[in-house]
Amino acid sequence: MSENYAHRYSMHTHTCGELRAENIGEEVTLTGWVAKRRDHGGLIFVDLRDREGITQCVFDPDDSGEAFSTAERIRPEWCVLVKGKVRRRPEDTANPNLATGDIDIVVSQIKVLNAAKTPPFAIEDGIDTDELTRMKWRFLDIRRPEMLKALRLRDTVTTALRNGLNKRGFMEVETPILGKSTPEGARDFIVPSRLNPGEFYALPQSPQLLKQLLMMGGVERYYQIARCFRDEDLRADRQPEFTQVDIEMSFCTQDDVMQMMEDVFSEVLDALSIEGISFPLDRMPWKQAMDEYGTDRPDRRFGMKLVDLSDIFASCKFKVFSGALSNGGVVKAINAKGAGDLPRAQIDKIGDLAVQLGAKGMAWIAYRSDGSETSPITKFFSEDEKARMEQRLGVEPGDLVMFGADKASVVNEVLGSLRLHMADLLGIDRSGHDLLWVVNFPMFKWDEDEKRYVAEHHPFTRPLDEDLDKIEDDPMAVGSYSYDIVLDGFEMGGGTMRIDNPELQMRVLKRMGFSEKEATEQFGFLMEALSYGTPPEGGLALGLDRVCMLLGGYDSIRDVIAFPKTSSASDPMTGAPSQVSPRQLREASIQVDL
Ligand code: AMO
Ligand code: AMP
Repeated sequence: MSENYAHRYSMHTHTCGELRAENIGEEVTLTGWVAKRRDHGGLIFVDLRDREGITQCVFDPDDSGEAFSTAERIRPEWCVLVKGKVRRRPEDTANPNLATGDIDIVVSQIKVLNAAKTPPFAIEDGIDTDELTRMKWRFLDIRRPEMLKALRLRDTVTTALRNGLNKRGFMEVETPILGKSTPEGARDFIVPSRLNPGEFYALPQSPQLLKQLLMMGGVERYYQIARCFRDEDLRADRQPEFTQVDIEMSFCTQDDVMQMMEDVFSEVLDALSIEGISFPLDRMPWKQAMDEYGTDRPDRRFGMKLVDLSDIFASCKFKVFSGALSNGGVVKAINAKGAGDLPRAQIDKIGDLAVQLGAKGMAWIAYRSDGSETSPITKFFSEDEKARMEQRLGVEPGDLVMFGADKASVVNEVLGSLRLHMADLLGIDRSGHDLLWVVNFPMFKWDEDEKRYVAEHHPFTRPLDEDLDKIEDDPMAVGSYSYDIVLDGFEMGGGTMRIDNPELQMRVLKRMGFSEKEATEQFGFLMEALSYGTPPEGGLALGLDRVCMLLGGYDSIRDVIAFPKTSSASDPMTGAPSQVSPRQLREASIQVDL
């Protein structure tokens, strides 16, 4: 990495990852932290670490003079500067695992820059310290090479994205963090306005409307590495604040947006030397993803697809199946090969999981390897039903078939999740990457809690031209110009073409239950802007944290965020969120009522 240093700091001559055999004999100065100190009675060895690597420093009572007594005092994580001469390590002490392993430094001078308290955990890779402790001392955690590596990966990805977008004519424009709360989407974080008592800003959930306004402003190609805020329940792939690579283009089609993203993303893969993803990417219709994988973010690195059996069981004696079907539902199943010999208790546990996921139960058939079968339900099936079902699922001895019978949405959710659960349970190989587009999402979905239609993506998404006449009377049949980019079963990014005229925008908002007055109150600035000659436009946003998590092979986006929040949205290092003084509350005209 040293060649990347355009200039060197004056305190050292080299980094700790830089010296090689060709430097033998040179007088050098290094700075860094004491990673390890070993006292070999007579000689003291210190591994000096900076972000580029580790160099072994040797203190010899004969050659090192006063430095030797300092070396006796220093402890791990002290920050020091050493001067000395590079020498070849004695035969058989070379360390092939270390880039600097052929050499060490015979130290003539050492300066303690700052001493350190004993750290709460070892500053090295592979520690099993719990994450909360690591987050409380994140500044120490980041000293560990694997953490620095994650931050460096993030920088590589961000740089490649910026370069890719810049050279294609995209310009970065910043948009406000203090914005207006608008309905729809997730819950807002709100900020009181001291100068306007009783009024609040909202932190942006994404710069969606602002980037549309930039297109109306003639920017044509915009991007922003934008911080977004959503007050949602957190998961491994969700943080209350996260980063989007937010992109918008004018005078373009959906194909243009997708093509641009593929081109830029392939440059990101090159920057990380990731191979094995071929372009152009597959485009799977949303409907197919839901039917076959039960989710709009399919992981196609293994099979176990959902299979529709509704036609087979239409008049079957098993009330659970025929009942679901006569209520307009579906009967579907997955076949987990290799799970057929699981003990009953374990199958019951999978059934419990299905119930937690929203199923009313989980019917199953275990085809034991010895040819026998166990199942609570086969007695209800006719021979013909059973044979057709087995044929469609490709059943063999050793298979476990799990059924779902309910509304399609419930069955897809349950079987889609069980599919992933079974892949984990069976240790199915999921190495490599699966990158694809899921396209043509429906425009609307029914919100059972609010008893109204809401937007599947967001209300500014453009409905398919051929479906415009269905908005009022058959909203669920309206498709949209929309595309999510899915990596290894995660939604890595998503976008849509946008509505570009005020009449259509009003129709869509009305269909979602807004009166004309409400729509004008909430989205007046958008409606107004839409009436000044809006260019056709579309765009998308990549979740940068997720991209880094997935391409780096991490389990959580917290691993690729320097200072993440816990699952209760707090920061154990700074103590945020915290109470504020009565004076601050008074100034903001806020009364706290707990
Ligand atoms: P969307 O809401 O799909 O689209 O968000 C885009 C991408 O942002 C990431 N993401 C998150 N990452 C971490 N934590 C979160 N809480 C979180 N929420 C979302 C995901 C997701 O794919 N304005 C539109 C985009 C557009 O239409 O152009 C938008 O925000 O990777
Ligand atoms: P029951 O007749 O309710 O005892 O159910 C018989 C079997 O069907 C049990 O294994 C249940 O878990 C399963 N079952 C019940 N409801 C459903 C459902 N909606 N979908 C799939 N299986 C179900």
